[in-house]
Amino acid sequence: MLLACVLVIAAVVAAVSVTRAGMRSATQAGDGFVLSGRCPPSFELIAGGTCELRDRYQFYDSLQDRGVGGTRTSLPPHRDGFRPEQIDLGRYLFFDPILSGDGTQSCGSCHRPDRGFADGKPRSIGIHGQDAGRAAPTLWNVAFLQTFFWDARASSLEAQAQGPLFSPREMGNEPERLLRSLNDNATYRRLFRQAFPGGGEAITAAEVYTALAAFQTTLVSLNSRYDRYAHGYAAALTERELAGLNVFRSFVARCAECHTPPLFTNGQVAVIGAPEPAGHPFDAGAEKTFHAAKLRGGFKVPTLRNIARTAPYMHSGAFDTLRETVEFYNKGRGNAVPPGATLYLHWHISSPDLTATEVGLLVDFLQTLTDEAFVPEIPRRVPSGLPPLDNPKESRT
Ligand code: HEC
Ligand code: HEC
Repeated sequence: MLLACVLVIAAVVAAVSVTRAGMRSATQAGDGFVLSGRCPPSFELIAGGTCELRDRYQFYDSLQDRGVGGTRTSLPPHRDGFRPEQIDLGRYLFFDPILSGDGTQSCGSCHRPDRGFADGKPRSIGIHGQDAGRAAPTLWNVAFLQTFFWDARASSLEAQAQGPLFSPREMGNEPERLLRSLNDNATYRRLFRQAFPGGGEAITAAEVYTALAAFQTTLVSLNSRYDRYAHGYAAALTERELAGLNVFRSFVARCAECHTPPLFTNGQVAVIGAPEPAGHPFDAGAEKTFHAAKLRGGFKVPTLRNIARTAPYMHSGAFDTLRETVEFYNKGRGNAVPPGATLYLHWHISSPDLTATEVGLLVDFLQTLTDEAFVPEIPRRVPSGLPPLDNPKESRT
């Protein structure tokens, strides 16, 4: 009897506290913004409340295969271990123009989900219509990169984010102004406290960079038709595409030496001598980063994941189509190096003399690397109340 009583009282207390908690979160979320407590697809919530990547490539332990284009190759180290709320907060920040100096640009303006997280322009256009100088790279699989920017000048996503935020040619903001505008926003103050429970009252710059990094590391694309083939489903590629893969990893074309599976980049800087568009000055690239003349005109080997979605190509957007890009490699070593310039071209850049058919096969193969299954949802509204993408209509077509 006594036990029953205690149980009833306990149940009533529990019911009351559930309602209280429910009411509290309802008032707190009166502005309609709720951070998801779930990990995105291909991540698992582990003890401690963080998200860990789960992918079939993690079953392979094939270090010796690296660099030769083997299909069952293990993945390089990657970033994960963020709380689901940090990831979701990063998604709001990524699409919120409040991050720019004049409220016109978000990260998503130049890294658009509908354009493979690039922007479809030869060179990005920043605040006040300024030429940002280089093409926006895709953000798919950035979790696996060790260096960032075409010239590898940043060594973490957190450091990278400060580039566009505070560049007068990109988002044109300043650290104090950025923090003031976020701290003046009651919704952001609430969301940051939820995502960073151990943090102080005010939003810090480090929290902003962490949330942006958390979101970007969830942009994983490893389920293309190529991957199905790599995992053993032979029919995933057509005969032509398979022939294209074989050209790609052949010792004649050598593409896989630098665009190494499974990420289709070896993460290194290479000098290949891609041209600038007419009238655009020479770009010394990684020479500046490493103060090394032999890296003059060197750029980070870009991933080829979702490459069919991110035209135009190269750091300068010099090529409009994949065929033009592949033909550049086939025109011979150094074919686009300006007369008189001294570039130390990488030894894998050769003159492969591929036939027109082989060039076509390569282009067909590159189309099999498309996988946008885990594209995140663009928020309809962001806490600042500003429009999440500069041109939402265009972005959804
Ligand atoms: C004005 C367009 C523009 C905006 C806005 C912009 N980016 Fe970029 N992003 C670029 C360009 C251009 C590059 C390459 C610049 C370079 O290499 O010098 C780049 C490079 C990057 C890279 C490096 C990728 C790699 O493979 O090395 C990351 C990561 C990135 N941006 C994330 C962000 C984030 C996060 C934001 C928002 C805080 C943002 N970008 C805002 C245009 C933009
Ligand atoms: C020596 C290393 C190396 C080899 C070999 C190589 N690439 Fe590249 N690739 C690069 C680098 C570096 C870039 C970026 C250069 C730039 O932007 O100036 C690039 C860019 C590209 C791009 C454009 C990517 C983008 O996002 O704009 C494509 C497509 C491409 N390569 C395909 C190939 C194919 C196909 C082959 C084989 C025929 C090949 N590559 C061989 C290093 C290499």
